[in-house]
Amino acid sequence: MDKAPKWKRVCKSSKLKMNKVKGKAVGTKMVLVMRTEDGIFGSNALCRHMAWPMHWGGKIKDGCLRCPLHQTTYHPGDGSVNEWSPAHYFPAYGRFLGKLRTPSSLKMYDVREHDGYVEIDLNS
Ligand code: FES
Repeated sequence: MDKAPKWKRVCKSSKLKMNKVKGKAVGTKMVLVMRTEDGIFGSNALCRHMAWPMHWGGKIKDGCLRCPLHQTTYHPGDGSVNEWSPAHYFPAYGRFLGKLRTPSSLKMYDVREHDGYVEIDLNS
């Protein structure tokens, strides 16, 4: 049985600019919302590679969310991995780090804009 949506405010809609991310602690979870050309998306904020909080320096580039630490990128639509730990500036270092963890998708949540706020449903 599906749980009823439980919408929680993350930030004002006006504060989430195009191709930007915002993060916030919601209950016991750190979540991230992002606005891309394809819409607004919400996910767990911690990178699946080594748990960097991606609202600290994360960027939307070419429609993907990029972690600033080792450059792992995710597709916002479903959280799937686009590229796993390439660490562009030090490719050998990135390949080594990439092997420490198996690539895995970001946990995604439903988001909406409501009453001027971006809200996330942690039950989704
Ligand atoms: S912690 Fe995000 S790419 Fe390594």
